[in-house]
Amino acid sequence: SITPKPSNEPVLAYSPGTSEREAVIQELKRQKSEITQIPMVIDGDKIFTDTKDKVVCPHDHQQVIAEVSQGTADHAKSAIDAALKARKEWAALPWEARAAVFLKAADLLATKYRAEMNAATMLGQSKTVHQAEIDAACELIDFFRFNVHYAEQIYSEQPGSAFGMWNRSEIRGLEGFVYAITPFNFTSIAVNLPAAPALMGCAVIWKPAPTSMHGAYLGLRILEEAGLPKGVINMISGDPQELSSVLLPHPELSGIHFTGSTATFNHLWQEVGKNINNYRYYPRIVGETGGKDFVFAHSSADAQELCTALVRGAFEFQGQKCSAASRAYVPKSLWSKLKPALVETVKSIKMGDVEDFHNFMSAVIDKRSFDKIASYIDHAKQAKDAEIVVGGEYDDSKGYFIRPTIIEASNPHYKSMVEEIFGPVLTIYVYEDEAFEETLAICDSSTKYALTGAIFAKDRHVIDHMAKTLVHAAGNFYINDKPTGAVVGQQPFGGGRASGTNDKAGSMLNLLRWASFRTVKENF
Ligand code: SER
Repeated sequence: SITPKPSNEPVLAYSPGTSEREAVIQELKRQKSEITQIPMVIDGDKIFTDTKDKVVCPHDHQQVIAEVSQGTADHAKSAIDAALKARKEWAALPWEARAAVFLKAADLLATKYRAEMNAATMLGQSKTVHQAEIDAACELIDFFRFNVHYAEQIYSEQPGSAFGMWNRSEIRGLEGFVYAITPFNFTSIAVNLPAAPALMGCAVIWKPAPTSMHGAYLGLRILEEAGLPKGVINMISGDPQELSSVLLPHPELSGIHFTGSTATFNHLWQEVGKNINNYRYYPRIVGETGGKDFVFAHSSADAQELCTALVRGAFEFQGQKCSAASRAYVPKSLWSKLKPALVETVKSIKMGDVEDFHNFMSAVIDKRSFDKIASYIDHAKQAKDAEIVVGGEYDDSKGYFIRPTIIEASNPHYKSMVEEIFGPVLTIYVYEDEAFEETLAICDSSTKYALTGAIFAKDRHVIDHMAKTLVHAAGNFYINDKPTGAVVGQQPFGGGRASGTNDKAGSMLNLLRWASFRTVKENF
């Protein structure tokens, strides 16, 4: 083995008086005082255009932090040309040479760019310093290092041979190009989606979410500084439909690496289906999509542990993690203890600008998101089968702020028990203790999703029974823990059913999707 098994990047605490805290504060000031011009990057060239999209801080929407040059169909075409041109030489390098780029990028991020990256993610996505640190620093560093570790295992696996002959597996990156379409909510996921196929020898066209360009562009600059050759990852921006109308039907499309909504992923599959006769390859389609992540408590659960898990699971990063707890099932016998604890904890949550390090929550990503979340809160205010337990206030005068909100539904199929909201709204259904079995069945079947889920119980037989009953209800399943915060190398992340193809991010499974094997037999 050329690389030792990595350990996870330690999470820094940013306590008062530390140099890392001071560095982030300076970066926040600097990044707010200038408007970063973000180009497209095609064949290593920075392409600026006259049409710009403004990036604002969600917690202060008058604060512009970046302007992103918008491209057209022609830019998508140039990006494809660049990727196809760069691919062969990149793929022909020994895999260790490609790996070195990502290991170097991990080191650069850990040491030189940590404060800049965290500040970009705090301002661009309104993450608190802790949420930025576990995403844009630690998780991204872990993705880079663990991907290399898993790739090494893939490259070293060889079939058996016999006398007079040998067998070999040659692992080739995909021909053509991979299209990476990435979300706003994790800078680490946004950068990993182009990085993982690139490590395996693919060339990539990357379209980041417009609201997360600040961190995404820095991620690409770090990779370039680490030695990524030009054209291997090309970053484009612009109207998604216009860009996709060039990229999706292209005969050289060989893969899609996606994280985002189920509806968009379904659309991608449909477009690929329509064009299936035009491709040179069957595109590998890998996606992590929507969720309606659950917490299911049994009467043997500890109310205080459950309270902490619900609050952290539902409200950290404003409930905008794909893994966030958004529906819970609680037995009546536990509810009388849990409810006051939840109300007290949620009322005490401090919320505001990310520049104030005391805040536990900040704003949701944009106006569209704010309106959607507010509409669910308004619905609960009117509904016969739901009531607001705590929260329910929202205000977008300065930033897109929504107070953490808990809805109690008397119907386990109530709208916000089954529909994805993607915000700080947790809906709880309180079940009669005797109705445990049927409520467990409802938890399994009432939504189409299966991303994350958590159960709380102390009784071992009950834990075993719940885990078996909910065997396909979540790709990441937690026992007596919140359903968020998967760590690369520890809990490979991804879901099934309508939540995606479950090709676990940051795992060997994911990397294998970007590899195409040639089996060679030779007689002597
Ligand atoms: N990986 C993140 C988590 O587990 C979600 O994308 O919270």
